[in-house]
Amino acid sequence: MIQLTIDDRRVTVAEGRTLLEACREHGFPVPTLCYHPALKPYGGCRLCVVEVAQPPPPGDARPRPARLAAACTYPCEPGLVVRTNSEAVQRSRRLTAELLLAGAYQSPEMWALAKSLGVEQVRFQLPEADNCVVCGLCVRACQEIVGVSAISLIKRGMAKQVSPPFEIASAACLGCGTCVLICPTGVLRLEDVSGYRSAHAAGAAEAREYCQTCSELDLEPHFVAAPEALLAAAREGTGL
Ligand code: SF4
Ligand code: FES
Repeated sequence: MIQLTIDDRRVTVAEGRTLLEACREHGFPVPTLCYHPALKPYGGCRLCVVEVAQPPPPGDARPRPARLAAACTYPCEPGLVVRTNSEAVQRSRRLTAELLLAGAYQSPEMWALAKSLGVEQVRFQLPEADNCVVCGLCVRACQEIVGVSAISLIKRGMAKQVSPPFEIASAACLGCGTCVLICPTGVLRLEDVSGYRSAHAAGAAEAREYCQTCSELDLEPHFVAAPEALLAAAREGTGL
C-alpha cells in the first residue's frame, strides 16, 4: 500500500493506482474528458490536471515545488502531496475547457462540462469546428473494447480527425455503436449512419453505400447499425 496526501488529508491506496483513481476512491472530485475506466489511460485532454509535489528528501523539511500533472496517467508514489482544486488547477482546467470548446462550441455536452468548470463564454472559435475534440475515446474503444480498429485518428495538428482507413466506410466495422455511445460531444450520431453499415463514414457523405453483405443476402434494411432502443438499453446498462 502507498500513503500520500490529497488536499491535506493522508490517504492510503493500493500499489499501481493512478492519482485519478486515488482521488476518486477517496471522494475528491476531478473532472475528466478523455478518460474512461474501461480503457487504458491516454492523458490527451489535460482536464484532469492536479498539482503534485514530491516529498522533501530525508532531513529537509522544506516543501518541494508543485507542478501541474494529468491525474489520469500519474502513478501514485509514497509521500506525494496533491492538490485537486487549487487556483492554479482551476485556471488550467478553465483554459483547457475553453480551448476544447473552440472546436466544439455547438456541443451542449461540452458547454455543460465547461460551465461546470466556470467557463461562461468562448473566446476562441475554430472556423472549421466539427464538434470533435479529438479525445480519441471512440478510436480507443473500437480498438480496446470491440477489438476491430475500424477507425483511427488521421492527419496532424489542427487537421487531426477521426476517420476509417482511407476515409471510406470501414469493412472492419461491426456497426456496434460503441464509438457513438462513448463520444463525449455527441458528434458521432446514428442518423449520420443512414445508408451505411457503420457510423464511421465521417467526411465521406457524398459516397454513401449499402453494406455489401446485407445487399448480397438481400436483407432489409441494407445496412447494419444499432437501433435507438438497443442504444438506450446499452446506455442504461453501461452508464455511458
Ligand atoms: S468523435 Fe467523439 S469520441 Fe471520437 S475523438 Fe471526436 S469527440 Fe472524441
Ligand atoms: S482525463 Fe486525464 S488527460 Fe484527459
